[in-house]
Order: sequence, then structure tokens, then C-alpha cells
Amino acid sequence: MIHDRWYKNAVIYNLHVGTFMDGDGDGIGDIEGLRGRLDHLQWLGIDTLWIAPIQPSADCDGGYDISDYYAVDPRYGSLGQFVEFVRRAQELGIRVILDLVVNHTSVQHPWFQHARSATNSPYRDWYVWSKKRPTDWNKGMVFPGVQRSIWTRDEVARQYYRHRFYECQPDLNTANPAVRAEILRIMGFWLQLGVDGFRLDAVPFIIESKGPGCRGLHCEYINEMRDFLQARHVQAILLGEANVIPSHNPRYFADGRRGLHMMFNFHVNQHLFCALANEQAAPLKESLLATREIPAMTQWAMFLRNHDELDLGRLPKALSKAVFERFGPDPQMQIYQRGIRRRLASMLADRSHLELAYSLLLSLPGTPVLHYGDEIGMGDDLSLAERNAVRTLMQWNSDRNAGFSESKSVRQPLVCSGPCDYRRVNVQMQRRDPHSLLNWMARMIHLRKRCSEIGSGRWRLLQTGSPSVLAMCYSLGNKRLLTIHNFSHQPQRVQLRFSSGRRLVSLLNRERRDAGKGGRHCLALEGWDYRWYRLCG
Ligand code: GLC
Repeated sequence: MIHDRWYKNAVIYNLHVGTFMDGDGDGIGDIEGLRGRLDHLQWLGIDTLWIAPIQPSADCDGGYDISDYYAVDPRYGSLGQFVEFVRRAQELGIRVILDLVVNHTSVQHPWFQHARSATNSPYRDWYVWSKKRPTDWNKGMVFPGVQRSIWTRDEVARQYYRHRFYECQPDLNTANPAVRAEILRIMGFWLQLGVDGFRLDAVPFIIESKGPGCRGLHCEYINEMRDFLQARHVQAILLGEANVIPSHNPRYFADGRRGLHMMFNFHVNQHLFCALANEQAAPLKESLLATREIPAMTQWAMFLRNHDELDLGRLPKALSKAVFERFGPDPQMQIYQRGIRRRLASMLADRSHLELAYSLLLSLPGTPVLHYGDEIGMGDDLSLAERNAVRTLMQWNSDRNAGFSESKSVRQPLVCSGPCDYRRVNVQMQRRDPHSLLNWMARMIHLRKRCSEIGSGRWRLLQTGSPSVLAMCYSLGNKRLLTIHNFSHQPQRVQLRFSSGRRLVSLLNRERRDAGKGGRHCLALEGWDYRWYRLCG
């Protein structure tokens, strides 16, 4: 299709530079280390990298508390190295998207330091203040159980400042045009250095009214960013993080020419885990239908797990209970009264089940997003605080520090016990084993890239006769694709019927089958089985 957009059929990989690869042997991952591992990502089939914040940060929230928007944290490298890295990635056909964290800064940012120091500071109105403690001071915390309030008294300013996230992350006053102009400047800066867009952090909070007791959303802020972005770089995108209910999606996508290009589909994500937990396709089907109609130029980013918790907060209690029981029964696996802080490989703990989940991710209508280490089935470390459990070092080989660093000691933890110990689960071992998860994943990613009907086509759900089985048919031009996923660990029999497309040709093996009477196909699926067929004839 001549008007098709690159992001509709991309495969996105998310990583934090600090935990991926140490290039200079100081024990901390860096840009040079990542540059040296681009070959791994290219081989895997990744064509878009989403990089977590690399700017200087006090690290009170994994780098999402920035103290200078126009620099690279010296731990990770320099601006010069960043530009070289972006250029190399693009030479290899890999686009780079950077996190844009502008709902808040770090308390250590000079803007905040200046703002708190005097009421007449030009930066005073860049943040949100209140003389008295607002009545909503302990409502709407993003990290309940860890965070005590959203307003904290600052003894220097002698006022309360607002922070939707941790205390160390004062909210920027996005109602102030000077702040919004600065946000555009930040975008312009990184675009000039070559990035292909931004993962826009915490979108609903950027656009909400922030004063004490204020209500309302300002979607025009997103449009301003979009206009600016597109004027500077036609192909660049905004991928928004907005965990909202489906009826609010139009506020973020607008008409596709304004608003965000992409959003993470949190609705499907949560229902997908219900489907996995209950071994029933229905919750996933409903969520797909509820988020189906979006403007032509927009796209969903589909994901299983990311660097945060698996957030089940928007599910009805009965559904989230089932997911907790199956995948996070132990209180130490749970977090913020709504989520699970485990990696997928530890939750599913079975190769067939994992394959089912990733096959699904790669075939859901949208653009798949992987979290670093997913490709080898990395696990978590629950002894670490909060979401750090899923942010351990990348496991490259069985040598010291898992091949991550040549330094004697590393600053971030490494998984060195249990089934996901780096000596059992690492890139080198799996590259050598043709049956490994890594080789399977690379084959599947390459397959996904040949099936653009998933990202750009129309789809429909098919009747299967089994409540555990999801069958979807995609079409684009004269190409048609059928995917089938069995959520049950038990074998299932399904019957599908097509008026045309009487022959199914597997994209996973040599299987070919012709339709029986009346265009019917009867299939026997193993537990957690999945199939990808091209429909011919
Ligand atoms: C987003 C990030 C998360 C961070 C938060 C505050 O939700 O994904 O990691 O803590 O924003 O910036």
C-alpha cells in the first residue's frame, strides 16, 4: 500500500542502556556497549529500538527522573557517542526512539532548584505549587503502597509541590506555555541528533489539569507536539504510554493526523493475561473488538511485559484475581496493589506456553514490542526492590558477569540462581542450539515481518467451536493469513469454515491441507498449540 506507514509493521525492542552491555569495562552498561550489540538485534529481526532515558538522572526512578534534558548521563557515554550509535543503527536498518519524560523532572533539575529558591524565580511557575496542603494530597498516587502523597511540602519554597509519581519527581506545569515551548525544544534537540521519534511517557498526566482540585484534559498539548514533530521529521512518531479505558482512546489518537501515532494497548494486555490465566479466549476477543476501530494512520503497540509491573488495575476484580492466583500468587510477586513484578518466562515457566504467548504477541493486530532479554526467556529477581525485579543485566554468555562487562564487579544485579540463572539462559548458548527459544524467536520475528497484513490489513475473529481457541483471519489486498492459538494446556478440536481460501498452507512447517465438504477444515490442536497459515485458492 502506497500510503502505508513504517511503524505499522515494525518490531520494537525496549532496553535500558545501563543494563544491556558495558563497552568500557566500568561495570555499567553504556552506548558503546549497545552499539557493539546492534548485530544481535539486527540478526533477531528488530527494526526499532525504544531506549529508556539516557539523560543525567539521580536514578530515583530508573532514570525517569531527569536532571538535564540536553545531555547524556556520563555513566552511559556522550552526545557524540549517541549520534554515532544512532547513525550505525540506522545503517543497519534499525530506527531509534527515545523516551520523552516531560510530565516531571528530577528534584535535582536546576529548574526545580531555582523554582523553589524564590517566589520570583522565572522557573517558579514551571512547577505546580500550593500554599496549603490540597485536599487531594493523598489521592491518585501512581505507586500506592510505596508513595504516600502527590503533594509534598518543600521546606525551601515553604509550599507544597505536586508530584503524581515519586516525591523526587516534581510535576512540570504543562499549562505554562513556556514549559510547553521548552518541551518542543527538547524534542527538536533529539530529533536533530537523529532519533526517529519518542515514547511519550505518562501521557494522561502530561495533559491533565494539575492545580489543586483542577479537573480536565488538554489534548491540544499532544497536538502541539505532533505538529512540531512532523514539521521537523516527517517520518518520526509519537508512541504514547496511556493506560486508559477504550472509550478514551479517541482523546489520544484524535483523527490520526493530530494526536499520537501509536499507543500501547494496555486494555488488550490485561485481558490477554486473563485469557492466559483462565485458558479461555473470550476476554482477549472482547478486548480486541473494544479497541479495534482506530484512525487509519494510527497503530497499537502490543506488548506482554515491559520494564514496569504487569498492571491489572483496570480489570474487574474477579478477572484480576484469577491472574494473580495463576501468575503472581505470592505477595512478594505483587506490587502497587494492582500488579505483578515478574518476567514472562517466570510466570509461564513452560516452553510451549511461552511460545504460545509470543506467537500471539507477534500476530495480534498491532506492532509488537519486546522487552530486552525476552528473546532468551530471562527471569526476574524478586529480592530486588519494586520494578527492579525485571531490570537485571542482559545475559550474553556463561562467563563472569554473564558477558555483560569485563569489570570485576557490576553495579546492577544479575540473575544467578534458579531456572533462569545466566549460566543456563544466555544468548551464546541459545545461538548454538537450533531448538532454543532465541532461534525460535528470530524465526517468528522474521515471519511476522513477511506478514504485513497483520499490521496493515483488516481482521476478523472466526468461530472455532472451542472456547479456548482464538482464530483470526487477516486480509490485505489479495493476501490472507489465518492464525490459531489454543489457550488451553489440553488438546482441542476446532472446525473452521471458509467460503473461499480452501487450502491452508502452514508458515511454520510443511503442512498443507485442503478443505473438506462445504469449505470446512477440522484441526486437532495440541495443548498451547499455535498455527499460522496462508489461505490460498
Ligand atoms: C512510566 C514509566 C515508568 C516510570 C513512570 C514515571 O510509567 O514506564 O517506568 O516510573 O513513567 O516516569
